[in-house]
Amino acid sequence: MAPVVSGFSKLSKSDKIKWLVEHHFNNDQNAIDTLKTYWNSNNQLQQLHDEFTENTISNYYLPFSVAPNFLINGKRYTIPMAIEESSVVAAASKAAKFWQNRGGFKATVLSTTKVGQVHFMHTGNKKKLVRFFEAIKKPLIASTSDITKNMEKRGGGVIDIELRDKSLEIENYYQLHCTFGTADAMGANFINSCLEEFAKFLVEAASTYDDFSEEEKNIEVIMSILSNYVPDCLVTAEVSCPIKDLPNTTELSSVQYAKKFVRAVQIAQIEPYRAVTHNKGIMNGIDAVVLATGNDFRAIEAGAHAFAAKNGKYASLTQAKIEHDMFSFSIRLPLALGTVGGLTSLHPLVKLALQILEKPNAKQLMEITAVAGLAQNFAAINSLITTGIQQGHMKMHLMNILNQFQATKKEKERLIAYFKTNPVTHSEVVEQIKKLRG
Ligand code: MEV
Repeated sequence: MAPVVSGFSKLSKSDKIKWLVEHHFNNDQNAIDTLKTYWNSNNQLQQLHDEFTENTISNYYLPFSVAPNFLINGKRYTIPMAIEESSVVAAASKAAKFWQNRGGFKATVLSTTKVGQVHFMHTGNKKKLVRFFEAIKKPLIASTSDITKNMEKRGGGVIDIELRDKSLEIENYYQLHCTFGTADAMGANFINSCLEEFAKFLVEAASTYDDFSEEEKNIEVIMSILSNYVPDCLVTAEVSCPIKDLPNTTELSSVQYAKKFVRAVQIAQIEPYRAVTHNKGIMNGIDAVVLATGNDFRAIEAGAHAFAAKNGKYASLTQAKIEHDMFSFSIRLPLALGTVGGLTSLHPLVKLALQILEKPNAKQLMEITAVAGLAQNFAAINSLITTGIQQGHMKMHLMNILNQFQATKKEKERLIAYFKTNPVTHSEVVEQIKKLRG
């Protein structure tokens, strides 16, 4: 077990590595070599990455891929995706290709409102608190004018502040429930700065409000923080086509395909065990775009799953239906994304990703990202109701197994050719490598 260390963050990078390797790797030079293999030879770029966060000792690579052929609202996109899971990009590309000949994806942003809250305790008369809030609401909003003036120029700012009474759930607990527009920024820093200012103003204004008793003057702010639950920052994306244009095979006619597809989505609407996996597949596509474009995938994940449970039971984020011989498939979810601020102008690959997308604004990025989620879900359900998921998965996983065995280029070529017509299983790959190596 490693000893307690203090002042670790103040050590130089090489001293941090020295400490780590001494206490976790018995001073094995290989560990140092592995960490250094991933350092960038461009010192300036390495320093930029080192300074993104604390205690950086190396870089953690993820594949940066692109999925071409996405037709969204009549415009063709190549979507950048940062993800390690082997079949995700291939699945997205396949779905994009399928739908580009059937009218493509239609996506629409329904709303862009973000939320933040000041959580506070107030002991005393509720009606007096309401009167106090009404009296201070205007100056309360104005108290952040230094922070909001630039955002207002870009079309954002504070939308409204409500006083919410939560005292039935927790005695004396209230909120300032604040709504914001953040234009093309994700806006986390903007929102949190405003909230902390609101909190300060609230406490000070209460302390001098004549109508309050001494107890009532003493508002205790518990915390001020944005919410990653953004049900009013919503986007929807849809594909549709005549049923006859759906896959049609000897096993499954296009009508049967459509019905089976709709049934699979229905199951994810009523069965949480399936819904979680169904939505996980959607997030495979969404997170990959969110990461590639320098957005906060944890925030997006938290908001999406909360939205999936908004009716009190966790359910599918997508819907599918058949109406008048037409099949349609859609997604609706909150995506608080930004294309300015944060990593967007700092991380060279993020900048490049946004260039690949032809510099979208935040609303366009919401649309593109929702489409990536829908495409991913289409590809997953398509496999699940036809061949099963493993055929495609294992094909993509073949390379990982070959790399585990340090297969040479020649060995890879031979085995990829072999597994074109034979089912991929881990043991069969091992068997074939052994055979090849005599
Ligand atoms: C795997 O990462 C995702 C899937 O399980 C999604 C799904 O089942 O819908 C294939």
